[in-house]
Amino acid sequence: MNYDDMIKKTIDSIKQDFIKVENELYLNELKVKYLGKKGLITNLSSEIKNVANEDKKTFGKAINELKNVFQNNYDTAKKKLEKSLLDEKLAKEAIDISLPATKIRQGSPHILEKLIEEIEEIFMSMGYDVIDGPEIEEDKYNFEMLNIPKGHPARDAQDTFYLKGEELLLRSQTSPVQVRTMLKGEGKVPIRMICPGKTYRRDDDDATHSHQFTQIEGLLIDKNISLSDLKGTIDIVVKQLFGNKVETRFRPSYYQFTEPSVEVDISCFNCQKEGCNICKKTGWITVAGAGIVHPNVLKMSGYDPNVWSGFAFGFGSERLAMLKYGISDLRVFYNPDLRESQNFDRWEDE
Ligand code: DAH
Repeated sequence: MNYDDMIKKTIDSIKQDFIKVENELYLNELKVKYLGKKGLITNLSSEIKNVANEDKKTFGKAINELKNVFQNNYDTAKKKLEKSLLDEKLAKEAIDISLPATKIRQGSPHILEKLIEEIEEIFMSMGYDVIDGPEIEEDKYNFEMLNIPKGHPARDAQDTFYLKGEELLLRSQTSPVQVRTMLKGEGKVPIRMICPGKTYRRDDDDATHSHQFTQIEGLLIDKNISLSDLKGTIDIVVKQLFGNKVETRFRPSYYQFTEPSVEVDISCFNCQKEGCNICKKTGWITVAGAGIVHPNVLKMSGYDPNVWSGFAFGFGSERLAMLKYGISDLRVFYNPDLRESQNFDRWEDE
């Protein structure tokens, strides 16, 4: 076979081979087959040494053309391959712009936090300071200076978490903040403060009890403070929280740090005293303990009971939130399951 025929045959073979290209691997194999060390074109072009001098130029040209044919076929096949890969990828990653967007959830305040903030606003508008106290408290502040000496049976009612030799404890009520505020006030008046905060008792958790809960303590010290001042103040707060139709009533009660002591009831905002499930058919709901600050408490904290008087109160925040938002199980507030707390957003939107 002469060189011309060999070149033609190689061109035909190139064309045939490139029709079959389906992937990169085969494309590379073709490169080796034709241009590799022992490739068909490589071999053919090395024949130049055997070609007669006068034909060398024509032969060289023909080989160049052969190389061009290969290169063109190679480039076209490669482009085709790349395009089909891209098409495949695009088809896979296609974005359907008609699909609704995924909703991004935004965090929102915990329902208890929201209620506490609302109550803080109400008291601040009446000139109260919002203050904080330690959750690890001294027995002295949590009990003794609130007129509950060691060994007093009233301590049993608050099953306390004691720490370290019983001098420290997890506060069982926010009332010690009353004492701390008076001691810090150094006899200065008036004192108007509320303290929302966490409290702890060794209760078993159920629908209405939790070993950790929140109270909102309040204290006012001034001259000639009476139960009617307390009633007026609480009345304003509950009306703002539950609506203007809600009434307040006091029932006699007993706390060591107040005298007289009362239980604060509000008329049922749900049934207007008709009787429903929320008020357990009584028409009234208890929302706080309160009273006139006991002279012993004033004295122990440096306020002369013959000159100064005051009232104090303690709301249970969870109870208020349960009433306001119609929640029947207290555990909902402390459940770490996001699906539960995201339910609170519902109230947020309303
Ligand atoms: N500390 C009381 C409790 O946890 C609630 C309370 C009652 C607070 C009367 C007060 C008060 O300030 O005057 O049961």
